[in-house]
Amino acid sequence: MEELEAIRIELFGKKGYFAQEFQRLKELPAHEKPQVAKELNKAKEELYRLIQAKKDRLLAQAIEEQLRQERIDPSLYDPTDFKGARHPVSWTMERIVEYFLSLNYAIETGPLVEEDFYNFEALNLPKHHPARAMQDTFYFRDGKLLRTHTSPVQIRTMERQKPPIRMISPGPVFRRDYDLTHTPMFHQVEGLMVDAKGKVNFANLKWILHDFLHFMFGEVEVRFRPSFFPFTEPSAEVDISCIFCQGEGCRVCSQTGWLEVLGCGMVDPNVFEAVGYEDVSGFAFGLGVERFAMLIHKIPDLRILFEGDLRLLEQFR
Ligand code: FA5
Ligand code: MG
Repeated sequence: MEELEAIRIELFGKKGYFAQEFQRLKELPAHEKPQVAKELNKAKEELYRLIQAKKDRLLAQAIEEQLRQERIDPSLYDPTDFKGARHPVSWTMERIVEYFLSLNYAIETGPLVEEDFYNFEALNLPKHHPARAMQDTFYFRDGKLLRTHTSPVQIRTMERQKPPIRMISPGPVFRRDYDLTHTPMFHQVEGLMVDAKGKVNFANLKWILHDFLHFMFGEVEVRFRPSFFPFTEPSAEVDISCIFCQGEGCRVCSQTGWLEVLGCGMVDPNVFEAVGYEDVSGFAFGLGVERFAMLIHKIPDLRILFEGDLRLLEQFR
């Protein structure tokens, strides 16, 4: 390119070959001038064309060379080594959602930074109620908090909609917890069904959870154990027969033969009062998705689900 430019200046520059030759025309006899001028012009045009053509070719070559140098060689990667895999928590979440979608449940969501009213108060957990200590909460200075469960979405949905309601709410929740079976962030799926008084009863709740747990875990025993939640009455925790020892008793189930998988109950009248619902009945349940994933995939320590170790994911291709 540089050489070509030098030649161009040498020929066409202010003091170049053609400038000088045209200067010298003056010195020629009049009858020779037209012929020489004509030939000079012809040569000038021809050389100009050649230089332009050469320039185009050099430019094309430069682009060609650049493309060659910047080429990506996809064969450098071994696709079998880079194949992605569904995270077991996502997989489990999707399967849970799939079940309830098939029963026409709507999916509702709520904020992760929640107000005390929705996370506690409207759920029949007044300030200073001892049951608040069941869930170790992350608070912000302004009194807001990271939601400790998906139950506030029950309240937000009932505030927005009239009964009947049939919804689930999947999403992350946060607690000050950290050990083999607890992490500070985990996922829950909330369920809520509300209809006119007497239309929704405990038998409905039992049936649907039986069916759901068989969908998730296959042929396991299911038992309802009386329990307490401020926002349900009566309340129950649901166990399945231990899938590690088939109910014989082992380390995972602490020799009981049973594993707790979710909490549930009939919605407490105080909750309906908080959202202004009258003459209705309903059931609610809440489950931990990581707990489900652990049991389905026989993962011994919940924390490895969040370490991002590719060796874990590779097993789920
Ligand atoms: C509740 O959070 C209730 N809101 C559930 C509920 C909803 C009951 C509606 C009745 C009606 P609990 O605190 O037990 O309940 O948590 C539910 C599930 O979340 C537990 O069974 C467990 O599987 C899971 N879980 C709780 N803490 C953790 C944690 N730190 N890490 C992982 N999973 C957890
Ligand atoms: Mg519990």
